Amino acid sequence: MSSDTTRQQTATADDQITRIILEAREQAYQETDHEPEPGLTAKVEWPVTCTVGPGLEGAIACESKIGYVNGSKGWLIYRGYDIFDLCAYSSYEEVAFLLLHGRLPKAREFDAFKTTLFRRMYIPETQRLLLSFPVQDMNPMAALRLGTNLMRQKQTYRDRQLEEERGRLIATDEDSIPMETRPTGKRRPVFQFISSMLRRGAAPEPDVLVGSDEIASCYNLIAGVASIAATIGRVREGRIPIEPAPDLSFAGNYLYMLTGRRPTPLEERVMDVCLILHADHGMNASTFASMVVASTLSDIYLAIGSGISALSGPLHGGANVEVIKMLDEIGSPGAVSKWYRAAQEEKKKVMGFGHRVYKAYDPRARILGPLAKLLAAESGHASKLYATAVALEKEVVASLGEKKKIFPNVDFYSGIVYECMQIPAELYTTIFAVSRVAGWCARVIEYLANNRIFRPRAIYTGSFNEEYVPVEKR
Ligand SMILES: CC(C)(COP(=O)(O)OP(=O)(O)OC[C@H]1O[C@@H](n2cnc3c(N)ncnc32)[C@H](O)[C@@H]1OP(=O)(O)O)[C@@H](O)C(=O)NCCC(=O)NCCS
Repeated sequence: MSSDTTRQQTATADDQITRIILEAREQAYQETDHEPEPGLTAKVEWPVTCTVGPGLEGAIACESKIGYVNGSKGWLIYRGYDIFDLCAYSSYEEVAFLLLHGRLPKAREFDAFKTTLFRRMYIPETQRLLLSFPVQDMNPMAALRLGTNLMRQKQTYRDRQLEEERGRLIATDEDSIPMETRPTGKRRPVFQFISSMLRRGAAPEPDVLVGSDEIASCYNLIAGVASIAATIGRVREGRIPIEPAPDLSFAGNYLYMLTGRRPTPLEERVMDVCLILHADHGMNASTFASMVVASTLSDIYLAIGSGISALSGPLHGGANVEVIKMLDEIGSPGAVSKWYRAAQEEKKKVMGFGHRVYKAYDPRARILGPLAKLLAAESGHASKLYATAVALEKEVVASLGEKKKIFPNVDFYSGIVYECMQIPAELYTTIFAVSRVAGWCARVIEYLANNRIFRPRAIYTGSFNEEYVPVEKR
């Protein structure tokens, strides 16, 4: 295909997707008001008083400038920018920079950032190490976490290096560790990063991006997790990993390294939007898990590994897989009413509906719905799934929308989008992780600037004065 044709197709795909997103934005703006609520975002005086539910629900743990979710209005904002605008006009690379650095990059910085991410997608040694494990038989999220740990080992000093410091830290009782410890000077995270060694033998990195070693590690993680996720997908299919292509975007390269086929401009752009949509979402469980681990002054690779672990649970990542199973089970739009009546009688939760935070239409679903429609039009199985999903949405929203504020969430249409790209369902959660690494990293770095080790309480409700009975008398 000539480069003119490719350019033309890219422009057409871009226009088409941008139009869809702007229409979704229009609808969102019509349905919910767009006035900021200063009371909800004002700086707090510490210590703060708030109502806390079990599992820390509602607790305010820190201040953050990274992202904002207003569940009752259906807003999602990264660093002040509306998610609809970012999806319409930006790219995942730019959003990752924005989340990490707090502002949009200048042209030179953006080029340098893209080059840096591209270079850091080359992780042949980590891939080789990973392939010495039975990746094809492993849960893909377990393999992703393993791969992230292996990447860490490659990119940090040998753990022994700071043995003395580590000994001092873990010798103390956990409650006597100073609560506020910034990871600087002597009290850096226990394992140090080696950005200088990383660059050995490689062309020097563009110096417009010079930052801390921690930021350099974030670049490794954002690029590396995508390569590892793609490697896992390929190995599961009995194929060998492939290198990224220099002319593809981050999203395009993720798809290329996964499938071995150059994505169409439409697929590349849709995946880019999917990555933008999943990049950050407040203090969700995986973000919190990463922050808790980082707050002990563990290192950022281990912190991100915890995020991957938390995301692997079915209550967090993975509902989109269940959505596809459910839509397949329903079978067709005509079968929706009967299926839904039975689900209501059994008090079954409908997968892909409802959200802990959103009590309005999830803005991510507003974008993913029409993208699923666009892609599904080309595919027999997916177009049936999509038609069934639309019929189900109508029924569920009619019965629970007003009454219980139950609307489609991000997972309702994302599975159909991935299905259209022929990505196996068991990899869906790894795509979520590929994107969310940017949010995890940004929030960890922000939190470490004013670090305070996390230490909530549990209320002891057990007994006292139990008499110890020797085992033979029990
Ligand atoms: C995400 C979820 C856990 C949020 O839960 P929550 O905010 O704690 O809401 P609750 O579970 O307390 O539900 C509140 C009410 O709405 C109902 N409800 C919530 N989600 C529902 C769903 N998906 N289908 C049908 N009813 C639902 C509950 O039955 C409950 O009704 P009740 O008041 O009569 O008991 C929940 O909506 C759910 O399980 N959804 C399906 C799984 C899913 O899509 N997860 C991905 C989330 S991104």
